[in-house]
Amino acid sequence: VSNVIDTEKRVAAEAAAELIEDGMTVGLGTGSTVAFLLPALAKRGLRTRCVATSEETERIGRGLGLPIESFEELDHLDIAIDGADQVAPDGWLVKGGGGAHTREKIVAASADRFVVIADSSKPVERISAPIPLELFPFGVAATLHRIGEARLRGGAARSPDGGMIADYHGEVRDPSALAGLLSATPGVIDHGLFEPEMVTDILIGRGEAVERIDL
Ligand code: 5RP
Repeated sequence: VSNVIDTEKRVAAEAAAELIEDGMTVGLGTGSTVAFLLPALAKRGLRTRCVATSEETERIGRGLGLPIESFEELDHLDIAIDGADQVAPDGWLVKGGGGAHTREKIVAASADRFVVIADSSKPVERISAPIPLELFPFGVAATLHRIGEARLRGGAARSPDGGMIADYHGEVRDPSALAGLLSATPGVIDHGLFEPEMVTDILIGRGEAVERIDL
């Protein structure tokens, strides 16, 4: 099974790499699907300026010769490509399985085109818990208490920006309402619900084929 899933991640990632053009500014996501994107992009030998959503992506990307810079100077990106944990039919996503969702959302929101790449296990009928959270350390117990049904992730997981990684384990009746509630909760730096308006392309690997869902 894992071989099929890896093939699906690879074909989706390779299709996404083809969308990048010479001279583009590029946001690079995080995770095992993006791990197939980085060599596919490097192989194209394009002139790009890239930003990475995690230290892991930065390290692997640099090792492959991709020009990765800090995300402080560029004021917008032409394209960003990233994986997802859940993809709903209406385009809502859950991200942050790797705890990188805050940086990933900043990068996705900055891009003209945001391309999601995923294997066939990621499409879901409806969004459900867990929903990743990044929480400000100050007052974290009170923030968790206020959210209810949320727990810190094991191993004292932290983002590179110092936030504590947690997950919301309650009901998800309406992703939009939950996203609004979490965003409005003091102490929540960001959550892993990505709204459809942010997403332009979804590429799902199915065996050796790529299913394109345009939003
Ligand atoms: C990391 C993410 C990843 O994109 C998401 O977890 C999917 O990962 P993978 O490609 O390994 O299945 O949001 O924070």
